[in-house]
Amino acid sequence: MTCVLIVDGEADGLEELCRQLHSAREEWEMHVVATPREALGFMDVRAPDVVVIDLAQMVDGVKLLLEVEKRQPNAVRIVTSTQAEHRSYVESIGVAHQFLQKPVEPDSLMEAIARACALRRWAVRPGVVSSVRRYGRPPRLPQVYRALVQAVQRDASLAEIGAIVGSDPAMTARLLQVANSAFFAPRHPITSAELATSFLGLEMVRAIVIFEGIAGAGSAGPVVDRRVHDIWRHSLEIAATAQRLADHEKLPRDQVASAFSLGVMHDLGAILLARHHDPIDAGDQRHSAEEIERERHGVAHTEAGACLVLDWGLPDDVVEVLAFHHEPLRFGTTSRPTAGFLVAAACAFRDVSAAGPDPRAVERLSAALAARGLADRLDPWHAVADHARQPAATKPVA
Ligand SMILES: [Fe+2]
Ligand SMILES: [Fe+2]
Repeated sequence: MTCVLIVDGEADGLEELCRQLHSAREEWEMHVVATPREALGFMDVRAPDVVVIDLAQMVDGVKLLLEVEKRQPNAVRIVTSTQAEHRSYVESIGVAHQFLQKPVEPDSLMEAIARACALRRWAVRPGVVSSVRRYGRPPRLPQVYRALVQAVQRDASLAEIGAIVGSDPAMTARLLQVANSAFFAPRHPITSAELATSFLGLEMVRAIVIFEGIAGAGSAGPVVDRRVHDIWRHSLEIAATAQRLADHEKLPRDQVASAFSLGVMHDLGAILLARHHDPIDAGDQRHSAEEIERERHGVAHTEAGACLVLDWGLPDDVVEVLAFHHEPLRFGTTSRPTAGFLVAAACAFRDVSAAGPDPRAVERLSAALAARGLADRLDPWHAVADHARQPAATKPVA
């Protein structure tokens, strides 16, 4: 039985919603309380699997989220709010896994809970976890990232956040490389982490910090460094393509930024494998690259990456893109493309088989677009992806 706790000031109006959810999903046990205090009382006697918190009272809501994280680190934390701007706040400070804009329809809440539970079941299958463990202790959440989260929690300015990143030379170098790249083309050279943070914004900085946190975790020698460098170049290309697709679809600005940052992070699992194996760049006639990874190493880069970031408590959007970027159909069927789906689309145009571009990847994307009623996007998106391809494109990795 999955225990779901809903904390909402308008709890009285939610009884009917709970009845609907329980009758649709008998395996869900629904409980509703009106205040953070009642929620903590509930948690004294029960351990909920999913906690849905309304952020109408922002301060108390965030305090409650932090308390839930402390007491029940494995519980899924979903936040609802009438204010769209709460999304980036609650996700960037790492206290919530998903954000839902109020009013929340029963179907959307049901989908959010089901998605979170399914993602966790997929990422922590026993075979995957034991294969990942064979590689030894996984990297820890980067120290700079923790400091960054604490800074956001105390409402620090972007300049202060830039100074935190600036304390780490390797992260600063990567940040400056992105900010000064041809893709962003700043009018004047960007020469400090503070300026780069103001220029790129928090979400992109967060992605770069996480990438460098894994890439730079311990020196592994020139062979591994070269593989990681290839993954970095490839990730930037996917990020740039996903962002162009988001622009093309006229998504809101926060989603455009998400498309880039999720693109930067999509192959974090490939870095974990690259420390031990030559990368498997391409599938063969019958098997995808992931299938070959599973057969040779016991785990695919998608599984290893999802397992890691789930353990770090990163938002579900991040876990999902690491898990499913080669399976665009798994990003749902709503007609509006999400940032994660656009990363999967960018990957489909770059995936290769032994004989060149992999037609199966484009076929999978085509099916996913058709399921969303967006079949007409395939050709224009292909053109956008071709245009985004930089002249210095490197060989695809993972
Ligand atoms: Fe990949
Ligand atoms: Fe990739």
